[in-house]
Amino acid sequence: MSLIFSGIQPTGNLHLGNYLGALRNFVRLQENNDCIFCVVDQHAITLWQDPAELRKSTREVAAAFIASGIDARKHILFNQSRVPAHAQLAWIFNCVARMGWLNRMTQFKEKAGKDRENASVGLFAYPNLMAADILVYKATHVPVGEDQKQHLELARDIAQKFNHDFGVEFFPIVEPIIQGEATRVMSLRDGSKKMSKSDPSDYSRINLTDTADTIALKIRKAKTDPHPLPDSIEELEKRPEADNLFGIFAALSDQTRQDVLAKYAGAQFSSFKQDLADLSVQVLGPIGAEMQRLTKDPGYVDQVLRDGAERANAMAKPILAQVEEIVGFLKP
Ligand code: TYM
Repeated sequence: MSLIFSGIQPTGNLHLGNYLGALRNFVRLQENNDCIFCVVDQHAITLWQDPAELRKSTREVAAAFIASGIDARKHILFNQSRVPAHAQLAWIFNCVARMGWLNRMTQFKEKAGKDRENASVGLFAYPNLMAADILVYKATHVPVGEDQKQHLELARDIAQKFNHDFGVEFFPIVEPIIQGEATRVMSLRDGSKKMSKSDPSDYSRINLTDTADTIALKIRKAKTDPHPLPDSIEELEKRPEADNLFGIFAALSDQTRQDVLAKYAGAQFSSFKQDLADLSVQVLGPIGAEMQRLTKDPGYVDQVLRDGAERANAMAKPILAQVEEIVGFLKP
């Protein structure tokens, strides 16, 4: 039994990458672990968010957790800003982490783009808040997609430096859990780009709220190459679009790429895509429908988040108090 923490940003549509890289794994992990899941609204505002949209997205992401099968009574589901200890610990971590460490973060470089001078300070310091999210509960295991690996390495460095500087064995060194056949789901339009909420083309991703027709259409239109499906893993690895669709198929059906290859080697893309569309609708359809239902009941979702925050606060406050004692703050 481990203490698990993970978070998802409420910024626009949740997509198949978020589901296969994160949510689906969360649902499995909750069977044998204590879990804390967070809708990270404070992370979201590192880029501009319209306030009304932020409120809507926060409820929508919470609904996605519940609709995917997270048991919010047994575990904890809340929005980050309701637990001030995250931001308080993040400030301390701003003073532990080094500029050089954050300068190496590839996600900052991607998100800030060419205009670094104009990026918010929050976007730069973002990984420190992420480390605080996890360590304010002393969580030990963090399930994420491949793209968050570097941030988790930074969380390990921060924990180690804090322990070393203050001569304590206080923070655990967190272990990432990056598992499954779809830890990095790629865009349906370009096999070299990650599937992402911010891609301007909606055809690049399958949203959890897409209708069955839209899902089928997006898969039909997904970019492929002109050859029949590959017949070996070696060949698959040389063909990014086919590899991506195989990974999605494998993850959705709880198989390996090898299993999928055994069935479809040498077949035409058209029949494979039809089966993939059916499978996607079968798995995502009920989740999308439940999300729609929950979205119509914001009172219920808000109650879940409030209750989760109360329990999260009760866990985080004493840990933060110990950190402040170690650092030397006079309290109370
Ligand atoms: P976010 O909101 O960008 O994504 C949420 C989760 O979805 C995974 N993911 C993907 N997995 C596979 N393929 C993709 N194309 C894909 N796109 C996204 C992400 O890896 C993530 O697991 N910084 C985090 C949120 C966060 C967090 C934390 C996570 C804040 N604090 C503490 C873990 C622990 C983020 O922006 O995720």
